Amino acid sequence: MTTENTAATDARTAPVAVWQLLENLKGQDLLDWRLAPVAGRASIEERNLDIGFPFGWYPIELSAKLAVGEVKPLRYFARDLAMWRGEDGQVRIIDAYCKHLGAHMGHGGKVHGNLLECPFHAWRYDGDEGVVKEIPYSKAIPPQVKRKCTGTYPVTEANRWIWMWYHPEGADPLWEVANLPECSDPQWTDFEVHEWNVWGNVQNMAENGVDVAHFKYIHGTANVPLGDLRWGEWGRGADVKAKMGTPWGEVDGQISYDTMGPGQSWTRFTGISETLLVACLTPVDLDHVHVRFCFTQPRSQAEGERAGVAKAIIRDICKQFDQDKVVWDRMKFEPNAIICEGDGPIAQFRKFYERYYV
Ligand code: FES
Ligand SMILES: [Fe+2]
Repeated sequence: MTTENTAATDARTAPVAVWQLLENLKGQDLLDWRLAPVAGRASIEERNLDIGFPFGWYPIELSAKLAVGEVKPLRYFARDLAMWRGEDGQVRIIDAYCKHLGAHMGHGGKVHGNLLECPFHAWRYDGDEGVVKEIPYSKAIPPQVKRKCTGTYPVTEANRWIWMWYHPEGADPLWEVANLPECSDPQWTDFEVHEWNVWGNVQNMAENGVDVAHFKYIHGTANVPLGDLRWGEWGRGADVKAKMGTPWGEVDGQISYDTMGPGQSWTRFTGISETLLVACLTPVDLDHVHVRFCFTQPRSQAEGERAGVAKAIIRDICKQFDQDKVVWDRMKFEPNAIICEGDGPIAQFRKFYERYYV
């Protein structure tokens, strides 16, 4: 069977390169596949993924999923962390392991006022200073934990998400999380969330947007013009006019893509159906990224007579992500990539991205 010459010329026409793998995945099977581990993948070292995590603000959890008085365990940036919301409403994140005997405070820890109380012997941590403030059964607090003794992380909330600043050397934030007005607009829908585990790294994933040649082979899109690229100090973006697939054929639309650091990116789709995608990509380990795509649309559109079109856009974006995931799950980071004409500004992207590493 030859597939060489049947490469799609129309948008969203199978077969694309990864069609064999995705064709039969439907419903729950597809949702399971998006989260499942990929067995037998090469090691982090073999894939050149031992390059550390780029610094920036990263989305950690939907704000609504952490109530006052609630504690949650986290694993991001190859670290075990504990997160809680104090009685003052503030979210704090510190390293998970208690300095006393090493309990993981994300499991069974309690909120005491604004402090995090370890489940094992109730030592109480201040999440701003990273010190032990109270030991209920002891007259004295050991000096080693009276001063800063554990990792703390800047936290903020924006766009219905909790964000954490990650920096390998603990430097203070270098920019602010960009505010997206649609996220707090009651005329826009609640987030529709789609979730994946990608067994790769965030830099390879980010490069996808400027990799113009892959659109035809992975996504079956005839051609995607590069659009007008914007390169800022900490963020970058592009405005692209592109064809979007719908069950009723393809329609002209505009896609505006923006990032603020390596951990915040969002895309506005206009044309047929307005959509904001808040793309939440958070590294778990050097070869693992937790992905949550949050979609919001004007209620008038999502709940109106064009609801079908609105849904189709979301489905199409998720399908494209599935297609890229097949590659990301196994690919290595190739620092000496051999680039040819027609590849798009990959070298320029890599040069830009270097600023996120120490
Ligand atoms: S291990 Fe945390 S208080 Fe003892
Ligand atoms: Fe892609």
